[in-house]
Amino acid sequence: MERAFNTIRSEEQGAVRLLFLNRPEALNALNGEVFREMNLYLDALENDTGAGILIITGEGKAFAAGADIAEMAEMDSEEAFLFSQTGQSLFSRLETLPIPVIAAVNGYALGGGCELAMACDIRIMSRKARLGQPEVNLGLIPGFSGTQRMSRHIGLGNALYYLFSARQIDAEEALRTGLVQQVTEADELMDAVTTLAEEILAKGPQAIRKMKAVVREGLETGFSDGSILESRNFGSLFGGEGTEGMKAFLEKRKPEWKPDKT
Ligand code: CAA
Repeated sequence: MERAFNTIRSEEQGAVRLLFLNRPEALNALNGEVFREMNLYLDALENDTGAGILIITGEGKAFAAGADIAEMAEMDSEEAFLFSQTGQSLFSRLETLPIPVIAAVNGYALGGGCELAMACDIRIMSRKARLGQPEVNLGLIPGFSGTQRMSRHIGLGNALYYLFSARQIDAEEALRTGLVQQVTEADELMDAVTTLAEEILAKGPQAIRKMKAVVREGLETGFSDGSILESRNFGSLFGGEGTEGMKAFLEKRKPEWKPDKT
């Protein structure tokens, strides 16, 4: 799935897919072209049967310093509404992608950049990076579902604290509030993310796919419906991957997973 893009770039390492935001001169600010190219990349990824995990990171010193302020400054209300909707639906695609998505937060992840990181399944952060939603400094509010995702990640009080104050969130605070799951030294970030990716790739691939769908859908539907969904998916693993995993445990051998084609 190699192809030429202007504002992003991709790499493959086995079943790991790496997506780099690639506008370092603008701290990877998210504009219409980035969104267009990311959507094209995800179109290809959805048909990429060899893909097991996606890592998103940024080139240079930023993950992404937000939506592109120069582009937004020229928009009228209707254009801004559509821009917001485009960003929201792109980020939602990461949540419905059948493979795990890890944000490797290498530097500034502000505004839309923080919203992108929050749409990923897991966030690992360099000690040098900073997250935050500084939109109120510009007289704006987040537009890519940051108002909705942040409170789901870190609770209402923490979210409003950062959303009202526009304060940057350092690694220690991000870890303490649960906004990120792991912090590393800057030069160890990609090793740490790759190690986690390899750990996840060693698990039952159907179980991982179903896990993501059940956890994410349950958040939308509520506890009871989510639990029914859990039972259905739990049951569906018997007679297939789950049976192989349990047999392998009892026979003291490594499970032989089949590629997840369902
Ligand atoms: N949009 C467009 N360009 C941006 C940008 C952004 N969000 N952030 C940085 N840049 C550009 C700068 O304009 C600058 O370009 P020039 O070299 O051409 O002047 C270049 O990137 C480097 O930036 P700085 O010189 O400012 O770098 P710094 O290290 O001094 O500061 C920073 C880094 C603190 C991240 C600072 O760039 C900054 O505050 N950026 C804006 C952050 C922000 O407000 N993000 C929210 C955007 S609104 C949003 O995202 C809304 C939404 O949810 C839809």
